[in-house]
Amino acid sequence: MLTFWKSTVGKKLLMAATGLMMLFFVLAHVLGNFTIYFGWINNYAEHLHALPALLWVFRLFMLSMLGLHVFLGIQLSWENRAARGEPYAVKATRRTTFAAKYMIWTGAVIGAFLIYHLLHFTVQVIQPELAARTNMDAAGQPDVFRMLVLSFQSFPMAGLYVLAMIALLLHLTHGIQSFFQTFGLTSENSLPGTQRAGTVVAALLFIGYISVPIFIVVGLLNL
Ligand code: HEM
Repeated sequence: MLTFWKSTVGKKLLMAATGLMMLFFVLAHVLGNFTIYFGWINNYAEHLHALPALLWVFRLFMLSMLGLHVFLGIQLSWENRAARGEPYAVKATRRTTFAAKYMIWTGAVIGAFLIYHLLHFTVQVIQPELAARTNMDAAGQPDVFRMLVLSFQSFPMAGLYVLAMIALLLHLTHGIQSFFQTFGLTSENSLPGTQRAGTVVAALLFIGYISVPIFIVVGLLNL
């Protein structure tokens, strides 16, 4: 077991498994965000918080997935860097994409975004005057809709979210295909297809996420 943890293969498998869990989360979250288009987002948020114990179990699980993913990502990146310092026995010219090369940096941007985002919409200490917790809707529920609309009516705030989503797009473009490779689910022949599928899923998520700040900033979603 210890050797599994210590081996590069073990670390990569854990990276891929924890990454998959987080991919499921971002898929579910974007679908949750879509409730804004149907006028249900306050109801949806209220339901999410209806079972606090379950919510906290889920949060702790996701936090441990994130912690492991970040820890192993940093370790693997250091190992790669150290290995690159050693001279190659055979000079290999490996083709790599922009997204693959900057995984650690796009990951860091997502991490920074996540801290900001949680302070913004979960803890609600950034723009506290807009906090859903202290502004109830007509049904007496925290007004998440109002918080989002008033927040993203500011161009810099909408822009910040869109920029962060570019990092997510790049990270997932490489991350999804990397998952299939790590688990040995691709062959030489199916690799281009897997790469395309990863890019399509990442692009759909990107469009889904940026749609909310963009619809609001251009005035298509209003109070
Ligand atoms: C434009 C993009 C996004 C919008 C509009 C958005 C919106 C929101 C809102 C309104 C909440 C608070 C829900 C509530 O508790 O009432 C929330 C929570 C959260 N969001 Fe996002 N989000 C976006 C992107 C993301 C991304 C890309 C990630 C992950 C990388 C993410 C991770 C989270 C997490 C972890 C929470 C806290 C969930 C909890 O309460 O445990 N969000 N988001």
